[in-house]
Amino acid sequence: MTQAEADTQALLTVENVTMRFGGLVAVDSVNFHVNPGEIVGLIGPNGAGKTTFFNCLTGLYLPTTGRVVFDGAVLPPKPRKVVKAGMARTFQNIRLFGNMTALENVMVGRYCRTSSGAFTSIIRGPKFRREERETRARAQELLDFVGLSTVTDHLARNLSYGDQRRLEIARALATEPKLVLLDEPTAGMNPQETRQAEQLIFKIRDSGLAVVVIEHDMRFIFNLCDRVLCLVQGKALIEGTPAEVQSDPRVIEAYIGTGPAEEPAAATTGPDPTGGRTAPEPTGRPAPDEGDRHA
Ligand SMILES: Nc1ncnc2c1ncn2[C@@H]1O[C@H](COP(=O)(O)OP(=O)(O)O)[C@@H](O)[C@H]1O
Ligand SMILES: [Mg+2]
Repeated sequence: MTQAEADTQALLTVENVTMRFGGLVAVDSVNFHVNPGEIVGLIGPNGAGKTTFFNCLTGLYLPTTGRVVFDGAVLPPKPRKVVKAGMARTFQNIRLFGNMTALENVMVGRYCRTSSGAFTSIIRGPKFRREERETRARAQELLDFVGLSTVTDHLARNLSYGDQRRLEIARALATEPKLVLLDEPTAGMNPQETRQAEQLIFKIRDSGLAVVVIEHDMRFIFNLCDRVLCLVQGKALIEGTPAEVQSDPRVIEAYIGTGPAEEPAAATTGPDPTGGRTAPEPTGRPAPDEGDRHA
């Protein structure tokens, strides 16, 4: 396949994206692409720029330079428009509506695809009621899909950590994406939950979606992904098959060189400068109760 053919087939093309914060270059001239149906891993030590890169793709940040083309069009840097275009994500620090049920959280994801405006919602006419019924049914299907059928009516904040992560995935899927971006989906999970998460991501791919996943768990990444990109200090260090990336001594060096802060647990408790405070939810809904987050 020529490069030109690869480019026209790509679902997502990232051209030369740079994100500066004052003097700090968090993402440095990164080129990247995702083909339909692919699972791509994004790895790199803490602070490498992985979450910032996701934020540039999903409209939370406007890259300082560069361009993001998704599904044939340049992506507008607005989270809501990005979701509409077919890209959905989960967050390193879980962002659920803690005082809503699991089902309601998924329904929220679905609202970006329903047509009822404020007026129909107030009148609550037949069209509103039909859409509401459909939204509820689809949300239940998605809860079943991610393995949460037994906790439909539980408040999100009462769910186990692993279940909250799966619920975030269900909410992302409710937006009917073509590509889902998962930021550390297994952080805080036990080994059994991690295996389930792996199966779930394969199932998502098999349903026709492309997936980009950030993770620290190398076994998880190398087992799951078709391709892996390693970022170090904002730069793409290497991109290749799991075998190529795994055997590159620079990758090991990049991790060892950064010391013990690389524990997955540290990733959820460590500084996340994006912290959910800088921008609205990609669904365009109000930000969830910060107090409900599991730090
Ligand atoms: N909103 C922001 N303002 C200033 N610096 C930021 C901001 N977001 C991220 N950074 C910095 O950018 C770098 C990359 O952070 P991040 O993308 O969270 O890394 P990773 O997800 O790979 O751990 C870090 O040095 C971080 O402190
Ligand atoms: Mg991160």
